[in-house]
Amino acid sequence: MKKYPNVYVFDHPLIKHKVSILRDKNTSTKEFRELIEEIATVMTYESMKDVELVPVEVETPLETTMQYRVKEESVAIVPILRAGLGMVNGVHRVFPTARVGHIGMYRDENTLEPREYYCKLPEGVAEKTVFLVDPMLATGGSACDAITALKKRGVKKIKFMAIIAAPEGVEKVATTHPDVSIYVSTMDRCLNSDGYILPGLGDAGDRLFGTK
Ligand code: PRP
Ligand code: URA
Repeated sequence: MKKYPNVYVFDHPLIKHKVSILRDKNTSTKEFRELIEEIATVMTYESMKDVELVPVEVETPLETTMQYRVKEESVAIVPILRAGLGMVNGVHRVFPTARVGHIGMYRDENTLEPREYYCKLPEGVAEKTVFLVDPMLATGGSACDAITALKKRGVKKIKFMAIIAAPEGVEKVATTHPDVSIYVSTMDRCLNSDGYILPGLGDAGDRLFGTK
């Protein structure tokens, strides 16, 4: 979305391929879970171009050289429960030692307003870059409130990653939190009257955990 300087929409052929399988109503829970994880890994690579590096001295078989490594302890992963949980392992593949916090949100089925029911974050989170993850960005209410919850606890650097987003939700998060980087793998058309993304993939939490 060129309109918002803090929004990055990936146009990655591998993600397109995987998202097309995710959308299919006949895709099994097992495959759905695996795909969410794989897409999260690709998105993490794509979104970490500005991640902090520290110089390290490395001895090759031939000589000593100065190289750079990611400052892994500077990263935390925070999934928005429930569906965000599906992306955690995917981000962990890139940052294996990252601490994990959890923010519990559910949408009221009638008002579509988010309700926070849980928040537990790692010690020192205020000093870390937080990868806030949720496969779905619909009205944007859950993401906006989760970002506010992180900011209240002092977090300054937030990267929000969503696999499928509606334009309405992207606009809401981008304008409410212009200081947050928003990474979206796929922009969909719109929301339906029940607040579901079209064409979307249905209820990500239910498909991930087989609850319906
Ligand atoms: C889904 C999804 C997001 C939220 C997006 O969660 O995982 O958190 O909806 O909608 P929004 O942008 O309109 O706020 P849901 O509320 O269904 O909870 P669940 O993951 O526990 O099923
Ligand atoms: N949450 C989902 O899981 N799917 C949608 O389409 C919208 C919100």
